[in-house]
Amino acid sequence: MSRHPLRTWMLAGALAGSMACTAEEPFPNAAELEQLESLHSPTRRPPLDPTNKYGDNAQAAALGDRLFDDVKLSSCGTIACRSCHDTVSGTVDTPTALGCNANRTGRNPPTILNSGYSTWFMWDGRADRLWNQALLPLLSPIEMASSPAILRDRLTEAYAEDYRALFGKLPAEENDEQLLANFGKAIAAYERTLNRNDAPFDQDVLRFIQAAEAGKAEEDPAYLGLKTFLRKGQCIACHKGPMLSDDQFHNIGVRDASASKAGVALAAGPMLDWVFNSSGPYSDARTGIESSRLQRLGSDLVRKGPELEGAYKTPTLRNVELTGPYMHTGEAQTLEDVIELYDKGGEPLGSFAGKVAETIKPLELTDEEKKALVKLLKSMTGARAE
Ligand code: HEC
Ligand code: HEC
Repeated sequence: MSRHPLRTWMLAGALAGSMACTAEEPFPNAAELEQLESLHSPTRRPPLDPTNKYGDNAQAAALGDRLFDDVKLSSCGTIACRSCHDTVSGTVDTPTALGCNANRTGRNPPTILNSGYSTWFMWDGRADRLWNQALLPLLSPIEMASSPAILRDRLTEAYAEDYRALFGKLPAEENDEQLLANFGKAIAAYERTLNRNDAPFDQDVLRFIQAAEAGKAEEDPAYLGLKTFLRKGQCIACHKGPMLSDDQFHNIGVRDASASKAGVALAAGPMLDWVFNSSGPYSDARTGIESSRLQRLGSDLVRKGPELEGAYKTPTLRNVELTGPYMHTGEAQTLEDVIELYDKGGEPLGSFAGKVAETIKPLELTDEEKKALVKLLKSMTGARAE
């Protein structure tokens, strides 16, 4: 017999129901039940990253932890990774962040919590692995404004023996590119330990599934939030799976007048040619899996070009209560603002590049539904690991 009698019952019901148009179908139907089952309880540790053989190395993580805090890696001597990614939220509480020489970033820093579960980085996907991402802020003139020479000097001064114990050579003996790649791999090993899962949300989803299977879905306190998330809001179209992200790029109509407003459509080309990408000489993967992932993005750019115009990475919703302001521009101050943005189907056409995804349209949410969605989002804050 089926492990899920309700599902069998619902499938039969759905078939019969398709004959006549009656009142709204009870929530959840069989397909929705499966979607719900895919949401809760991520693995304790992020999946292996075959491109970084140091990814789960504790020594590398310890070195990465120190590097993450080191302002002397920046040319101005005052900015570290931590300056823009704090310990609690993994981001800052302002729309943009302050880098070297009083420069401001063009975009909102995403949280680094749970970043090991993602395979594209930056809002526009211009890095394809966690370790190569770390090179971008290090070298960016508006963030740490550093250079391979500054990196080598600082590693030599403060980390030479730890570096050699891990990578087999002294920083002084390493060429620029290898030095940068190794720096990134140690940082990534550290970031992979910054996971906050185990949220009330996970308990709620499990309990709700049981209630649904007992025919008592509507009595469960999570009913309206989950129903709106899956059905009327269609949030699940993109915020799916244990991380509540499909790790793909979509245009949801966020106002953006910057030179880089085309998002992934602008960023993917250079990334595909980047010497540090995951199919390049500094990747530890030897399987070709990485290159096919990149090829797929390359062919998507050609095949669905206009769809990727103005598209940004779907962020994880885990810990979202801690990570405001929201969106790649930081335009939404609160989660209520986010819901208003979705409710109106994005900003007016012309205020951003491209056009919005099919699922983004005026939702006509009631006040109760909006509140239930905000409450649901707030339930996604996880406990600190260990
Ligand atoms: C001056 C502020 C600043 C500094 C310093 C900084 N970051 Fe960031 N970080 C950002 C911003 C802004 C973004 C988003 C940029 C974009 O998408 O265009 C970002 C994005 C990221 C992401 C991508 C997350 C995701 O889900 O896509 C990671 C990981 C990250 N930073 C790690 C680091 C590391 C490691 C360092 C140090 C080597 C660092 N950051 C230094 C501001 C900063
Ligand atoms: C078509 C795919 C798609 C759908 C549908 C969708 N989202 Fe999003 N969501 C995204 C993308 C992409 C972003 C980032 C967009 C940007 O910054 O330009 C985002 C951003 C967010 C953020 C901000 C997170 C942060 O860290 O800044 C929240 C919260 C959010 N979505 C919740 C929802 C909710 C609730 C719904 C349903 C009402 C929903 N999303 C529907 C793709 C989607």
